[in-house]
Amino acid sequence: MGEKPGVCGNPLSRRAFLVACAPLAACARGRSEPPGPRPVALPLERFPSGLRVTVSVSGHPVEILRSASGVTARSLLCTHQGCEVSWSEVDGVYACPCHEGKFDAEGRPKEGPPPKPLATLPARIDGPLVLVGP
Ligand code: FES
Repeated sequence: MGEKPGVCGNPLSRRAFLVACAPLAACARGRSEPPGPRPVALPLERFPSGLRVTVSVSGHPVEILRSASGVTARSLLCTHQGCEVSWSEVDGVYACPCHEGKFDAEGRPKEGPPPKPLATLPARIDGPLVLVGP
């Protein structure tokens, strides 16, 4: 088994290729569902510590936040009706543009109609990659 062409021109091992290219089942579910259930591999270098970086995982916006203790991945789909929320550094909340829902820094509902927290996805650093998903 040889190496497959990789993301950004970098060769990936067979395992990393399969992980990175595995389709996620989220598209078959409602838009407010988080992506899953297979992991996606992303280059660690894209995520400087302390910066919130939004990536697309099977078309779904996911925020990756790297810290000294590791990495977290949070779906940016509002749990009310699935609009994309965005982080406001000034207000310290995730704000939803559709019905003015707000979530705190941990993704918990703070204001408005969202019924539950923003979904988090399993994420870990594995060598030069961030793996998002199980
Ligand atoms: S979709 Fe976000 S508050 Fe309604």
